[in-house]
Amino acid sequence: MTAADLEYVTVARADDVPPGALYEAELDGEPLLIVNVEGTLYACAALCTHLDGPLSQGVLTGAVLRCPWHGSTFDVRSGEALGRPAREPLRGYALRVHAGEIQVARP
Ligand code: FES
Repeated sequence: MTAADLEYVTVARADDVPPGALYEAELDGEPLLIVNVEGTLYACAALCTHLDGPLSQGVLTGAVLRCPWHGSTFDVRSGEALGRPAREPLRGYALRVHAGEIQVARP
């Protein structure tokens, strides 16, 4: 599958996610997180890979998101788990902005 074959779905307006913001959206009934890192948007899973902590309530420092439950840290650009207890990366989603709307590709 190429990038051109991806099916994008609108999940939020770009205005909803200013720099430094975490925004919980939904794709096909699944929560996902839109994150604005210094003007660049990323989409990743909204639940921590440790015990499903709500990452929309976490703390974002630059590109590093800290889970509010037990403190795992993730790089939201790659999903990489940086700090335990989480070991598994966050799932990421392809994202684009089209006509002021944030669109995420269906996995
Ligand atoms: S649920 Fe996120 S660190 Fe435990």
